Amino acid sequence: MRTQVAIIGGGPSGLLLSQLLHVHGIDSIVLERRTKGHVLSRIRAGVLERGLTDLMATAGVDARLRAEGFRHDGTLITYGDRIFRLDFADLTGHSVTVYGQTEVTRDLYAAREAAGGRMVFEAEDVTLHDVDSDRPHVTCRANGDDIRIDCDFIAGCDGFHGVSRRTIPAALRQEHEKVYPFGWLGILSETPPVDPELIYANSERGFALCSMRNANLSRYYIQCDATDRPDAWSDDAFWDELRRRIPRAQAETLVTGPSIEKSIAPLRSFVCEPMQWGRLFLCGDAAHIVPPTGAKGLNTAASDVNYLYRALHRFYADGDKSGIDGYSAQALARVWKAERFSWWFSSLMHRFPDQTSFDHKMQLAELAFLESNRAAQTAMAENYVGLPY
Ligand code: FAD
Ligand code: DHB
Repeated sequence: MRTQVAIIGGGPSGLLLSQLLHVHGIDSIVLERRTKGHVLSRIRAGVLERGLTDLMATAGVDARLRAEGFRHDGTLITYGDRIFRLDFADLTGHSVTVYGQTEVTRDLYAAREAAGGRMVFEAEDVTLHDVDSDRPHVTCRANGDDIRIDCDFIAGCDGFHGVSRRTIPAALRQEHEKVYPFGWLGILSETPPVDPELIYANSERGFALCSMRNANLSRYYIQCDATDRPDAWSDDAFWDELRRRIPRAQAETLVTGPSIEKSIAPLRSFVCEPMQWGRLFLCGDAAHIVPPTGAKGLNTAASDVNYLYRALHRFYADGDKSGIDGYSAQALARVWKAERFSWWFSSLMHRFPDQTSFDHKMQLAELAFLESNRAAQTAMAENYVGLPY
């Protein structure tokens, strides 16, 4: 098989890139290790920045997002018995959209299928070859067949555990990592959200987040031990713990019900530099991870895709190589800002096992400053709604 861009990974990064390239007349093939059903069963991000919703519009896949997504003009933050609101619309003139990553991925699969886009599922042993030459190719096995794809470029969109990043020789890449000493236990339940807006809670017992997918589908998270297992947490234990971490008024009105999904996510900050080698370009979780506080993972993946599809379009349209040569530097400049914001918000909101009383007082003082200072609120809101591409 031959294509212009071989895309490794059929998660949101790979699919969005494939669809944006298609809209600009560039052919691609997506290789995905799992089944489509498996990819669509993963419950992940829920808050989309304007940059991502604009990309969905450019990709021609925003009809359902516009009809079913919820615009959020602000969020609530609580600490101790205090609660305050960050008014994104007033502070920045922008808002965010609540629409699940699962739905983004579903819409992108539908668009790729409608356009006859080539996708290979259950691709095993995906291997990248001659990446530092002008004629790279990718091999894999699928449905018992050996497959070879000759291409001009390879996009590594295969997530943190993928093969693409590891194809860059170790001597040529630097990896920067911080692992946090706790996880997030998340549940999805068919109950009305406790509040129309998200609530981020710094409590004495640890972080909690009240989020949602729609009027009858809630997503809640609580900070847990990194070694906890989801099945060791009964639904009742989860709801009891959540109630203890949110303000009394919300705890009293919280509607509980059986969980329809329960999982634990580890928290990690990670960046691989550079994000390109030869004809290989990394996008999304393949190159970087943020802790989820502030919902930057999917959104940062989207900004990579934005830079890469534009660079490839410029190359194919007028032979201009400046975009592809500068991809890594351009993407990393924004990645590091998202890393800083996610690290800062995580550090502010969680209980750390080695935290001293002084450290805790610093968190509370910073939250009090944020509550009372418009400049601090503006800085936070600008990051939350998404820095410009
Ligand atoms: P992925 O979604 O990881 O997709 C990569 C794809 O590549 C996968 O489908 C995988 O099967 C495939 N693949 C892997 N290896 C290979 C291979 N060798 N060959 C072929 N295919 C391969 N972000 C938020 O903003 N908010 C959240 O609440 C949030 N929660 C999260 C919870 C969890 C458990 C995880 C893991 C992530 C979460 N994130 C969250 C982050 C967000 O989901 C990711 O940033 C986003 O999925 C990145 O998209 P991606 O396409 O780059 O990577
Ligand atoms: C969600 C996850 C986040 O990490 C976040 O900051 C906001 C919302 C969610 O899954 O809904």
